[in-house]
Amino acid sequence: MKIAVTGKGGVGKTTFSSMLSRMFAEDGYRVVAVDADPDANLALALGFPREVYDSIVPISEMKKLVSDRTAAETGTFNKMFKLNPKVDDIPEQHCQEYNGVRLLTLGTVDSGGSGCVCPEHVLLKRLCSHLILQNKDVVVMDMEAGIEHLGRGTAQGVDAFIVVVEPGERSLQTYRKVKKLGSDIGVKQVFVVGNKIRNKDDEDFIKSNLEDGEALGFIYYNQDVINSDRSNQSPYDVSTQTKDEIKVIKDRLLQIKENKNK
Ligand SMILES: Nc1ncnc2c1ncn2[C@@H]1O[C@H](COP(=O)(O)OP(=O)(O)O)[C@@H](O)[C@H]1O
Ligand SMILES: [Mg+2]
Repeated sequence: MKIAVTGKGGVGKTTFSSMLSRMFAEDGYRVVAVDADPDANLALALGFPREVYDSIVPISEMKKLVSDRTAAETGTFNKMFKLNPKVDDIPEQHCQEYNGVRLLTLGTVDSGGSGCVCPEHVLLKRLCSHLILQNKDVVVMDMEAGIEHLGRGTAQGVDAFIVVVEPGERSLQTYRKVKKLGSDIGVKQVFVVGNKIRNKDDEDFIKSNLEDGEALGFIYYNQDVINSDRSNQSPYDVSTQTKDEIKVIKDRLLQIKENKNK
């Protein structure tokens, strides 16, 4: 099961990704959670202790790893470097594990504008493809808004793109953009998870704005989730209600995966 979670900033991508990862892990799956947002904070949402969180070095900042694997000296963009660096051992060697979830933090690629190909970028992209295309249990990627940064092969290997939306026009706009982009690169299934829902009206509002898309489920606005962020706990450890809502979504994902394999 390979899932990429995207959506507008602040909608709850990290909250959802962390809870889904922990739930799969609790069910006994081997889970790799990928923090692919330059503004990385998935580790905290997963409940990693502060010391571990503070010690995390994103892959893109591992200068030696980047230059060893791509045979490039970092910062020298006009030099030749490998476009197919070895990455298969990186997940084992550079992830942190807590609560049964293995976390990979990718970091930022300062590419100086779109279209730039730099060693860090090549390595991260290849690492993502590797994670998606290999035959492992569960990969959950907490992404920035949009899916441009995924290559076609990677995107097609993903079982579900999940766009987290709030009951509001702005995040639905992001959903439509992702859906359009997805269909441009051959991704058929882009699903929605409604978050910060207050009532049935909110659910209906989202449902009525999905065109032919499907909402996998709804997560209600929950003070416990906010408080978990304040007290630096994993939202997974504080709310049974939210967990129940995540379970509905997880079960639907498994059902979709099963139908796809038929
Ligand atoms: N269901 C929810 N109920 C209440 N607050 C939520 C809920 N989901 C997310 N939040 C809060 O919204 C804020 C943004 O969530 P986050 O997961 O970091 O969003 P993103 O990763 O999309 O930027 C956080 O303070 C989080 O605690
Ligand atoms: Mg986030």
